[in-house]
Amino acid sequence: MHDLQDEFGHRYQDARGVRAFHAPGRVNLIGEHTDYNGGLVLPCAIDRGTQLLVRRTAARSIKLASLNFDLIAILSPDEAGTAVGDHWINYPLGVIAQFAKRGVTVTGIECLYRGDIPNGAGLSSSASVNIVTAVALNAVFECGFSQLELVHMAQAAENEFIGLACGVMDPYAIAMGQRGHAMALDCSTLECDQVPLDLDGHTLVISNSNQRRELNDSGYNTRHRECVTALEIVQQSHGIEALAALDMATLASQASAFAGQDTAFRRARHVVTEQARVLGACEALRAGDLAQFGQHMCASHASLAQDFDVSTPALDALVAAAMAVPGVVGSRMTGAGFGGCTVSLVADTALAAFESEVSARYHRETGLTADFHPVVASDGAGERPL
Ligand code: GLA
Repeated sequence: MHDLQDEFGHRYQDARGVRAFHAPGRVNLIGEHTDYNGGLVLPCAIDRGTQLLVRRTAARSIKLASLNFDLIAILSPDEAGTAVGDHWINYPLGVIAQFAKRGVTVTGIECLYRGDIPNGAGLSSSASVNIVTAVALNAVFECGFSQLELVHMAQAAENEFIGLACGVMDPYAIAMGQRGHAMALDCSTLECDQVPLDLDGHTLVISNSNQRRELNDSGYNTRHRECVTALEIVQQSHGIEALAALDMATLASQASAFAGQDTAFRRARHVVTEQARVLGACEALRAGDLAQFGQHMCASHASLAQDFDVSTPALDALVAAAMAVPGVVGSRMTGAGFGGCTVSLVADTALAAFESEVSARYHRETGLTADFHPVVASDGAGERPL
């Protein structure tokens, strides 16, 4: 953090009295597009993230700067409630609006951010910015909100300010992560089991397709609406509250109700089968059966590609290239899809071959260049010593 402290001093005269906060990114191991359908997810926080230095001042201004983006914003508290184009500052502004809703007027702060999560790659760079902001404001304004309330605030900021109908998984994983664990989170109750991520000589490798996606421009909200349509169809005859509560036999028995609504049916089938895969994957992880875990990952990718239509030819090529390397037990797209990253479970002895072989084959097939990030499950957000 010390070089960031120096930068803070350059931008804001000096760095006296600053406090430092960190929020990780997250990788979702399985359970994709289930969170906003009341289902299970299995993410972990990763050892990449967002750092934030903050200082309170006596001025009536909010100053936001980042080493990752050019725009530096100086706003009055009255201006802070309005989004500014599609700039990165809308993420902190959305969080500030959530504090305002709860009676906390944020004013007199200087902030400097720096992140090493690739943006728009499915690793939750935006939720990381939201959570680090929420944790920092909670501390410096002494609000006393619980970590779970900050999770809700970060999600609401994205829903209301950015206009993305995302679920609770990302802010939850980023706020609540525990080193060496994945979180088996039930998004309908927010019950969470921290499952030891005992990978027995394997490493999680994130491969970035470098096919960038813009979530709010993408089909994410469309997928959300299609799931609502599917739920409404089922609710005509079944009193369920969320798609993930369905089982396959019940969904199959609804085939005639879905007549002419093939897309909604396939979306529902993904959610129902993904829910079963997460259960199976958690069981496999607890039993130390990585081969079984890997099979669930691969089946998840196929369902996301065929039933949920959120994979891309580049992501499919990346997964196929990974699975062709001996020692890779599973691979799938991670996050919302439409581009972004895959996550693969790779034997440590195969790591060097993984990078060179996947890289070459992926480039040959797509013309794109992937990059690779081995990651470890890390702690969630909090204050860090300077
Ligand atoms: C994005 C959203 C999450 C979740 C995933 C897909 O990351 O922010 O809420 O829906 O996509 O699983």
